[in-house]
Amino acid sequence: MHRPDPHSFYETSQPKTRRLRLKFGVDFERKRIEGEATLEFGDAVQGDLDLDTKGLEILSVKVPGQGPIPWSLGDEDAILGRRLRLALPAGTREVAVQYLTSPEAMALQWLDPAQTEGKQAPFLFSQCQQIHARTLVPCQDTPVVRVSYQAEVTVPEGLTAVMSAGPAGDAPAGPGRHAFRFTMPQPIPTYLLALAVGRLESRDLSPRSRVWAEPETVAAAAWEFAGVEDMILKAEGLFGAYPWDRYDMLVLPPSFPYGGMENPRMTFLTPTLLAGDRSLVDVVAHELAHSWTGNLVTNASMEHFWLNEGFTVWAERRILRILHGTEAEALGWAMGQNALEESLDRFKAEPHLTVLRLHLEGIDPDDAFSSIPYEKGARLVAALEREVGEERFHRFLRDYMDAFRFTSITTEQFCTFVDQQLPGALKAVGADAYLHQPGLPETAPVFQSGQLDRLAALAERWAEGGRPTPDQIAAWTPAELLVYLQKLPRQVTQADCAWLDQHLALMGRGNYEILVEWLALAAAADYEPAFPRIREVLMKVGRMKYLRPLYGALGGHARTRALAREIFAAASPGYHGLSRRVVQGVLEKYPA
Ligand code: BES
Ligand code: ZN
Repeated sequence: MHRPDPHSFYETSQPKTRRLRLKFGVDFERKRIEGEATLEFGDAVQGDLDLDTKGLEILSVKVPGQGPIPWSLGDEDAILGRRLRLALPAGTREVAVQYLTSPEAMALQWLDPAQTEGKQAPFLFSQCQQIHARTLVPCQDTPVVRVSYQAEVTVPEGLTAVMSAGPAGDAPAGPGRHAFRFTMPQPIPTYLLALAVGRLESRDLSPRSRVWAEPETVAAAAWEFAGVEDMILKAEGLFGAYPWDRYDMLVLPPSFPYGGMENPRMTFLTPTLLAGDRSLVDVVAHELAHSWTGNLVTNASMEHFWLNEGFTVWAERRILRILHGTEAEALGWAMGQNALEESLDRFKAEPHLTVLRLHLEGIDPDDAFSSIPYEKGARLVAALEREVGEERFHRFLRDYMDAFRFTSITTEQFCTFVDQQLPGALKAVGADAYLHQPGLPETAPVFQSGQLDRLAALAERWAEGGRPTPDQIAAWTPAELLVYLQKLPRQVTQADCAWLDQHLALMGRGNYEILVEWLALAAAADYEPAFPRIREVLMKVGRMKYLRPLYGALGGHARTRALAREIFAAASPGYHGLSRRVVQGVLEKYPA
């Protein structure tokens, strides 16, 4: 017996699920899904089958045509949930589980109408990565197992359901109910199962891409993401033909805890990307790039997460270079460096979480999350590219995609493949240090540009009175302004804050990266004029990337700590469970 993924009860000796047939009855009143999951094995199988579940109420387990079969639930593990062991009789080709999800299911956030843009109807969305699919469906919840799926989702009339799949028709389903059908023919890891239900409209952006959003935001979303087809073409130039047929996007309500989630055929996005100037569309480039690095070639478990994110960040920056040039790319790497240093600092007492090849037995993957697999990983990929040259690396990428398409692989499999295709390259870049040593190797690639140097030099002169001129400020792109703010000292005075706000018009920024960077500076300075805006942002937005630094920066003064606690008490019922946990962790570290 062997469990290859420390975050799943999946046993290699047991049959693998090949296909899922799902029926979801969405009940907004009880905040539950009435589920039926039929697991198909392709062949006749028998014996024990261990599934992952968390918070699921199991109602019945049957082999269709034969009737109920024995099952048992194991003890609750705080991270993994409960093992559901089924005893499959000889000749089983499929097994059907009827169940109810819990209102606390981590994969699901149930929103009241007030938490939506239109304020008219409730909204439901899922977020299964890392290991939350098991709170939505009993399944082998590990990327080692890949499944195709079909689904029928029944929702209140007037609402629309979308999934990480292609649409396969919809029809009325009894009084006041409507059913939507979906099919995902390609095999995916369960963390890419995704569902959203709400008042939704769509706008076509190209023959193979459209954006979904609430009616109130769909026009703004269509404008912001109008360049998506161009990005798809550039990504295809890097990786080969787009493998998932359509690339659609869904803009969620602001409590969505991430910037974006690469659900296949339906990327989920935070509405904070709607800056009004297309300045945050690199997140779309990132989620799109996951169509290859992550969704086509997938990490075998969270211990190899860098294979997903490191490659994707590298690809995102490469697309940025192709679309906007090397100066823009260098700014992207600089923002990444900033995030990497923050994460290395946050994990300074946990150096084992700063290696790329992680060991996560007994560790909740959400607690191990940081920018390290992203940025350290991307730097390893860039180092390999520099070592062998762009052309050879380009060919390598194509071969890598071909060799492992629709499979899930480990770091060790990746290294074996690199050793075959690019002999000596891993050793030459010192890959071992990235993979197995904490921190960032000193030899890691550095990304320089003239503008980056100028911004850094200007920010460095802040304390001695150096200030940007009005002409400089007027000429800055949002990315340049952001990098400048990131390079300012973390502790500025209240007079400095007043200067910054006045000359850079920071309080009214629609670009959340800039707004939050500024509000964190202001919070750390105990700058009272920013308090109302801080409250507004924290009451509305649930994106963890913003909550962590903002609540963190509020920890520096008695008055801002009191403000943070008061805001959290009011805001936390509206936060996603993941976001609530992150903020609780930040508040617990405040001095008493
Ligand atoms: N797959 C991630 C989001 C994720 C990671 C969800 C881990 C759950 C667990 C997604 O591709 C991502 O990385 N999103 C980033 C944006 C990106 C530009 C770095 C985010 O949400 O900020
Ligand atoms: Zn990603």
